[in-house]
Amino acid sequence: MRVHKIAVIGGTGPQGRGLARRLAEAGHSVVIGSRSPDRAEATAGQVRDRTGGDVSGTDNETAARTADVVLVVVPWDGHRDLIASLAGALDGKVVISCVNPLGFDARGAYGLVVDEGSAAQQTQTLVPGARVVGAFHHLSAVSLWETEEVLDHEDVLVCGDDKEANEIVAALAPAVTGRPGIDVGPLRLAGHLEPLTAVLIGINRRYKVRSGVAIAGIAR
Ligand SMILES: NC(=O)c1ccc[n+]([C@@H]2O[C@H](COP(=O)([O-])OP(=O)(O)OC[C@H]3O[C@@H](n4cnc5c(N)ncnc54)[C@H](OP(=O)(O)O)[C@@H]3O)[C@@H](O)[C@H]2O)c1
Repeated sequence: MRVHKIAVIGGTGPQGRGLARRLAEAGHSVVIGSRSPDRAEATAGQVRDRTGGDVSGTDNETAARTADVVLVVVPWDGHRDLIASLAGALDGKVVISCVNPLGFDARGAYGLVVDEGSAAQQTQTLVPGARVVGAFHHLSAVSLWETEEVLDHEDVLVCGDDKEANEIVAALAPAVTGRPGIDVGPLRLAGHLEPLTAVLIGINRRYKVRSGVAIAGIAR
């Protein structure tokens, strides 16, 4: 396994903390990023205690600058401003976006219309020199942090326009699912992967489960 130094931007939230845990357990070096270095260090301490791994915490920009792979795990609200503020630090990096632009109303979750096509494409537009990959959209934060199971009934779907970056990200997926991610094609497909999460949320509410995505027809 190739070991990476992975920054988790917004790593103080449940999804970022859960992914940080799984990546640290697999042996990657993880830097939790936050707007508050103190919050980042507090979450890093939780992940260190849980995993015994190499986990630190700092502000988002320092985290992004020190890593070779940057995972963006922030809400859609404020996404554009945050990415624009980090553009210099993200330039040239493999940037993974698992941001889901969703709205919620009385009928449940739904995908928002994004001018650039998706959150991942917005990141690519704002940071043309980054190698943006969409992935890890469909994993539950609860499953990532609270269970001990390898989530080997789920697939990580990966999309991006840089083949090598897609391969790097697909190779990170076994930390969570025990098997490589599935490269589904170009970055524009993030416009389909992101709102699919609204479907999973609908299933979760109706059946009281934590659903995920698994692709049939691929030999394992
Ligand atoms: N939760 C899930 O089960 C799940 C599953 C799949 C995908 N996702 C996606 O993962 C992303 C994060 O989800 P989450 O539930 O972890 O979100 P969250 O707790 O709402 O936010 C994560 C972190 O982002 C930072 N943040 C919040 N607002 C911000 C702003 N305006 N500008 C910059 N940073 C901000 C905060 O960190 P600081 O205050 O420390 O900076 C916060 O702890 C979302 O896009 C979501 O769609 C979530």
